[in-house]
Amino acid sequence: MKTFKKKFQTKTKMEKEVYFLNKLSSYKYFPKVVSVNKDTNELEMSFCGNVLEEGSEPRLWRKQTKEIISILEKESIYHNDIHDENFLYKNNKIFLVDFGRATENKEAFPFLNVSSSCLDDCDSFFHVFLHAEKNFKKIHRV
Ligand SMILES: Nc1ncnc2c1ncn2[C@@H]1O[C@H](COP(=O)(O)OP(=O)(O)O)[C@@H](O)[C@H]1O
Ligand SMILES: [Mg+2]
Repeated sequence: MKTFKKKFQTKTKMEKEVYFLNKLSSYKYFPKVVSVNKDTNELEMSFCGNVLEEGSEPRLWRKQTKEIISILEKESIYHNDIHDENFLYKNNKIFLVDFGRATENKEAFPFLNVSSSCLDDCDSFFHVFLHAEKNFKKIHRV
């Protein structure tokens, strides 16, 4: 199996990401934890593909992105960093990565979140991130 290694600045940050990935391990849209190295602060996880280019998003983007956001809502997880580089694509499947800023029950900085209902009025995959930025601006009053 192809894997991806992410190095963290601190063990606490790595453990936080591991916590959320394990909480989401029964769903298919997130990386699976393969190994955790507490000496080097390296997390090895399943390889989830590459970032999407604007205009090349798969036809299934809306259904899958909506499912991803619905799962987070069901699990009371706020990702807080919903932007294009944290969505990857492999074998017709979209993945959400990077739970480095995630929180439970209450959203937190930088407040880049979207609700599953707003997916219906998105014309394209990249439109989703404008909604996340709107939420950011609402909270930061900019
Ligand atoms: N599981 C993964 N499979 C493939 N690429 C990944 C994976 N996790 C992260 N990446 C790549 O590394 C980049 C940075 O990882 P990320 O978890 O977003 O950390 P950060 O943004 O905090 O540096 C991502 O944008 C993506 O391109
Ligand atoms: Mg990232």
